Amino acid sequence: MPEAYDLIVIGSGPGGYVCAIRAAQLGLKVAVVEKRATHGGTCLNVGCIPSKALLHASHALEEAGHGFAAMGIDAEPRLDLARMLAFKDEGVKGNVDGVAYLLKKNKIEAIHGKATVLGAGRVGVTFPNGDIQRLECRSIVIATGSDVARLPGLDIDEQVIVSSTGALSLPKVPKRLLVIGAGVIGLELGSVWRRLGSEVLVVEFLDRILPGTDADVARTLQRLLMKQGMKFKLSSKVTAVARSPLGNKVAIEPASGDSDGDGMMADADVVLVAVGRVPYTEGLGLEATGVKLDNRRRILVDQHFQTDVPGIYAIGDVIAGPMLAHKAEDEGMAAAEIIAGKAGHVNYDVIPNVIYTAPEVATVGKSEEELKAAGVAYRVGKFPFTANGRAKVNRTTDGFVKILADADTDRILGVHIIADQASEMIAESCVIMEFGGSAEDLARTCHAHPTLTEAVKEAALAVDRRAIHM
Ligand code: FAD
Ligand code: NAI
Repeated sequence: MPEAYDLIVIGSGPGGYVCAIRAAQLGLKVAVVEKRATHGGTCLNVGCIPSKALLHASHALEEAGHGFAAMGIDAEPRLDLARMLAFKDEGVKGNVDGVAYLLKKNKIEAIHGKATVLGAGRVGVTFPNGDIQRLECRSIVIATGSDVARLPGLDIDEQVIVSSTGALSLPKVPKRLLVIGAGVIGLELGSVWRRLGSEVLVVEFLDRILPGTDADVARTLQRLLMKQGMKFKLSSKVTAVARSPLGNKVAIEPASGDSDGDGMMADADVVLVAVGRVPYTEGLGLEATGVKLDNRRRILVDQHFQTDVPGIYAIGDVIAGPMLAHKAEDEGMAAAEIIAGKAGHVNYDVIPNVIYTAPEVATVGKSEEELKAAGVAYRVGKFPFTANGRAKVNRTTDGFVKILADADTDRILGVHIIADQASEMIAESCVIMEFGGSAEDLARTCHAHPTLTEAVKEAALAVDRRAIHM
């Protein structure tokens, strides 16, 4: 019997839907199986898109309240949380409907149900009404993403103890929000609720925020967030949350377990658990298939995204690498091309990473700590936004651009930006790094004036100690 599909993709997040579209473009007959009612995965439904909608709206509120007067605009903004949440939901709807449209446009069959991998070329689907169907195909791509990492003893009820999903829909502004984990989610959603009026305390296990991010940048961001009113308790862990109608008490102890250390009790109306995410393979039935997982329960794949079972591939958050939407998308594209007999590839050295706080942080390539650990000789070019004309008139002078270039070849090895609109500014650095460009190449590229990106050019000039405006 001929296979019904060339490719079945399980999960329609950024990895899955992009993979399906690329495969359809290449002439394959494709189906996507998604257990959620809407497409777009974590990112569009409960991740990137709703969090950025709330960051945008809460930033606008803060600007209207604290930034407008300096420009001669008097305003007295008033928060209507229900309408702000509706604004966020509308943004999500526009995006998930967009994915449904794209799947249809590309003649991809969108099946709503829970998929199980029965073996190479065989997928089972359980529909919401309990019906079961078996589908046949040549290739399977598992793109089932990730789920919230939990802490023992802290049961997430999405009301008092919440994950990022609950924190995107709190029905009222908590007076006190305690965030566990000073990673990306903790800082982004902590920023949202602080701007809306919460007192925010972030408890972090390590002695620094944002592990993995260039330490210079992380230190600067922490200082700026503290200036905005966010509080931090580093080298600490939450050991218990005692819930009571009179108020919840959170027990915080030194991370080292040292009983003589600086433990404390904190009051919190809501506790956000943001200690990472774990790959999601539950219910896929992989145990019976021969598809192997690593020690962190990520699906093991080779450089062509193929698992230990020929014809079964995996991409995105469910495999190793940064848990980022654009990484999942690029893997989806590459996997589709490989399955269609072409040469798909992802350059893991050039994957940007953005934290959408104010100011934003955007980085690509190696941090100073990574270069030191690898024994690479490098030069640093740094330029502050206090010396950038556009930032001065915009009153967004917090932050800097730091470029790390190979000391011998001048090739750019890392770019780290902390600034307003850093998320948009990082793109040129990605392109130049993709082409193996040097700081000299970037410094000799004409940048429009007045723009914030002139600071990127100046940082490139600063690598050779010849910045003009400093
Ligand atoms: P997912 O998006 O998780 O999609 C997997 C899909 O598979 C889901 O829809 C799920 O329902 C479905 N599925 C699972 N099992 C089955 C099954 N058995 N049968 C059928 N369907 C199944 N990344 C960024 O790059 N930028 C950001 O700004 C950003 N913000 C974030 C904010 C938050 C609050 C969170 C939680 C994450 C954020 N991320 C961000 C991370 C980003 O969401 C993920 O990296 C991305 O969604 C991973 O894509 P994916 O396709 O691998 O998986
Ligand atoms: P994270 O990995 O970014 O940060 C988790 C933090 O929690 C770390 O600082 C860690 O040291 C700390 N931690 C771990 N256990 C702890 C404990 N018991 N007590 C106190 N602190 C503890 O994870 P996060 O923020 O949950 O985000 C998950 C993923 O989602 C990230 O890996 C990121 O890739 C993705 N994401 C990306 C965004 C973006 O690109 N802008 C936005 C939000 C999420």
